[in-house]
Amino acid sequence: MSMVETDIDAVLPRLAAAVNQRIGFRPADVMGKIASSLAGLAMPDRYAYTQRLAISPPGDLAWSRLVEAMLVHETYFFRHPAQIELLCDQVLPELDARRRQAGRAMLSAWTAGCSTGEETWTMALVAAGARVGSAPLPMSILGTDISETVLAKARTGAYPRLHALDSFRAIPAWAAPHFTGLSEGRTWTVPAELRHAVSFVAHNLLDPPPVTGADLVLCRNTLIYFDEAAKRRAQGHLAAALRPGGVLVLGAADTLDDPQAFEPIEAPAATVYRKLA
Ligand SMILES: C[S@@+](CC[C@H](N)C(=O)[O-])C[C@H]1O[C@@H](n2cnc3c(N)ncnc32)[C@H](O)[C@@H]1O
Repeated sequence: MSMVETDIDAVLPRLAAAVNQRIGFRPADVMGKIASSLAGLAMPDRYAYTQRLAISPPGDLAWSRLVEAMLVHETYFFRHPAQIELLCDQVLPELDARRRQAGRAMLSAWTAGCSTGEETWTMALVAAGARVGSAPLPMSILGTDISETVLAKARTGAYPRLHALDSFRAIPAWAAPHFTGLSEGRTWTVPAELRHAVSFVAHNLLDPPPVTGADLVLCRNTLIYFDEAAKRRAQGHLAAALRPGGVLVLGAADTLDDPQAFEPIEAPAATVYRKLA
């Protein structure tokens, strides 16, 4: 092993700790990916490069590239249909009744860690009345992610039908009418009427929330990569974004950090959490 490689081995844990500080991921889980990223660099002096990473600010291009290599962007429309059905059948009608009582014009939703936008657009379809017989709900929806790369795709709202594991792998029968005529090789584009109430901005879940007074916050399949401290901090931000009575939707593998602040709303295969006053 050369001297340079030995030095990289020494610097890897420091870089993994810096990644943990910046995006919350468990250091042990990112070491392999960091090593691969460094190995793939053409730059002759990788050790100097790692030193630069250790001191450069969050917006630095080298950092953005490294962080991007750590991220998992797996997502698809109508993921966890049981949760979506619970939202459609019970949660959203209740939230909308409260909104009308309070004389507010719109519900406000935040999908945090939205990746390429399928989850955010799913909520827009749901609000537009995706569930048969439901009336459209006025709902503004903000999608956020730390990755500008996926946000650029989310904003296009264009999704190709590729193969069995593409964005359309879990469309429930009741939502299928939104995707009629979609065959392999074709692209589904978000209908124009859904776009006016949806926006996407970059946001790191370790930073204070980009919204307050939200009725609904989704953060699914994202906190599973965080260590305990980062998860606590991110969940604190999700909770702070919600108005009292607002509802938090986590991924199936996530546990609530502050259960006293919420009451569960349960369906046979799904649980979401209402923020207590
Ligand atoms: C596996 S995807 C989940 C997408 C969607 N929520 C779903 O359930 O299908 C996780 C997303 O979280 C984003 N992410 C990871 N760490 C983040 C952080 N610290 N702040 C904001 N987004 C983050 C990733 O870029 C990725 O797009």
